[in-house]
Amino acid sequence: MQQPQSADSNDRAYWRRLIRSRRQALSAPEQRAASDALCAQLLALPECRQANRIGLYLANDGELNLAPLAQALWARGCQLFLPVLHPFAAGHLLMLGYHCDSPLRPNRFGIPEPHLDVRQVAPLASLDLLLCPLVAFDDAGNRLGMGGGFYDRTLAGWQQSRPSQPLPIGIAHDCQRVDALPHALWDVPLPQILTPSRLYHFNPDGSQQG
Ligand SMILES: Nc1ncnc2c1ncn2[C@@H]1O[C@H](COP(=O)(O)OP(=O)(O)OP(=O)(O)O)[C@@H](O)[C@H]1O
Ligand SMILES: [Mg+2]
Repeated sequence: MQQPQSADSNDRAYWRRLIRSRRQALSAPEQRAASDALCAQLLALPECRQANRIGLYLANDGELNLAPLAQALWARGCQLFLPVLHPFAAGHLLMLGYHCDSPLRPNRFGIPEPHLDVRQVAPLASLDLLLCPLVAFDDAGNRLGMGGGFYDRTLAGWQQSRPSQPLPIGIAHDCQRVDALPHALWDVPLPQILTPSRLYHFNPDGSQQG
């Protein structure tokens, strides 16, 4: 995709504004088609077929809607988890069990999340797969989020753990791809990113497979 020229094109805020407005501009039929295509692809992925415990997110701000996927995964017998803002550790997430009848309420960002019940908290490493929302991604697997650092903190060190679990897969609309994003030391790049049209695989050095 041709990059727009801008004096502040290295600025993270610039990319967030640009790509957020791009995905917010998707129509309801475009969103539905994107969600259907992505869910079909994800359900067919070997990494998903082998997964029992899957973390996902509830769409906000034009993010790709995973609600139909959640239904299909429950039907498969998978256990699902949603991120909840940590009540004490600022900037951190907890993963809580998500059931079809889980009561949800909006957090301070307006994103629905399960009630904080300690019995439902799952250690991150007990998940097989973590589907990560993002604002923008680039050709090296760099990920730009909404700016809270929540997923960076959650995934800090995941690659060093053995076995490296969960496998994080970024989920995005095709219009969220850019050639190259500014990135910082704390930004955790993703090994795989799935869009409605294709799966991107990245090596640890940022080169693309396939
Ligand atoms: N592992 C970490 N430990 C401490 N602070 C961190 C860590 N990761 C990110 N941060 C802090 O979080 C702030 C926001 O980070 P960043 O701009 O990369 O957010 P983001 O990746 O867009 O958001 P998110 O991860 O929530 O989608 C930064 O100021 C950064 O210092
Ligand atoms: Mg980041």
